[in-house]
Amino acid sequence: MTNNVVFITGASSGIGLATVKYFVEKGWQVAATMRNPAAADELRQLKGVNIYQLDVTDPAAIGLVVDRVFKDFGQVDVIINNAGYGAVGPFEGAGEEALFRQLNTNFLGTTRVISAFLPHFKKQKAGTIINLSSIAGRLALPLYSVYHASKFAIEGFSESLWYELRPFNIKVRLIEPGPIRTEFNGRSRVDLVASGAEYEGFVRKVDTFYNDLFKRAESADVVVKTIYKAAVQGGFRIRYPAGYRAKALLLFHKILPGIMFRWIVRFMLKI
Ligand SMILES: NC(=O)c1ccc[n+]([C@@H]2O[C@H](COP(=O)([O-])OP(=O)(O)OC[C@H]3O[C@@H](n4cnc5c(N)ncnc54)[C@H](OP(=O)(O)O)[C@@H]3O)[C@@H](O)[C@H]2O)c1
Repeated sequence: MTNNVVFITGASSGIGLATVKYFVEKGWQVAATMRNPAAADELRQLKGVNIYQLDVTDPAAIGLVVDRVFKDFGQVDVIINNAGYGAVGPFEGAGEEALFRQLNTNFLGTTRVISAFLPHFKKQKAGTIINLSSIAGRLALPLYSVYHASKFAIEGFSESLWYELRPFNIKVRLIEPGPIRTEFNGRSRVDLVASGAEYEGFVRKVDTFYNDLFKRAESADVVVKTIYKAAVQGGFRIRYPAGYRAKALLLFHKILPGIMFRWIVRFMLKI
């Protein structure tokens, strides 16, 4: 086992759970946080993993957990802001509460964890912050307006932070997966439903496309390996697209004029 320590949010399923297992395989010690540790039987069997209860929307709890982690491990080298979910549907179906909840978890949760770690990383004169963004932080598709807002926020926030933390030898990285087969399009998907029937046909067409896309999506492995690369790589690279779909889509988005990209999306989704 190495002395390297990684801290991660949302370790109960999907990318988070697979990431914990991979870092353990590589000999790291892991502070795995999740909302419901009672369901962490699989992780409890692993050597070098400490499990902590943490909801990233609870600011008071974050400080306490981070202090506890430093008491238990003495240092933390890498933090992974992974906790998140997707609100999907017409913006009119969101309302203030659903919009705030999405930003509170995906974006503010990330900023809170970083705030709690910064004094420690500055004292250590080192640290790596890995934020789970998405291709949804770089380009926009229909019915994901609220989720896009949270991931575009993470992108801009992280890029700005990259400059100001570099002099402290603190690295800021963004992981940008495409569609990945996890609980994200299942248990972690929150449907936004607009009243009335105006959006019904549109939602049906777009949903059919997305459901099909997620059925053929890549496994969490590609993201996990990308996260690990971001954790161990030297230098200050910021963006790590994860998976061939993410790389292809980001490339198309970069080289095609916006008007053409949007036409292709409308054509493919039949909207
Ligand atoms: N799957 C994809 O296609 C995809 C693509 C691009 C980016 N991502 C990003 O990857 C990250 C992980 O998603 P995933 O695909 O692994 O989905 P997942 O299997 O649904 O995992 C999401 C994790 O976030 C946790 N979580 C949600 N709200 C939380 C909160 N308030 N506090 C703490 N934990 C919370 C969930 O915990 P519970 O078990 O308690 O619900 C779960 O552990 C997310 O940030 C997502 O936006 C996913």
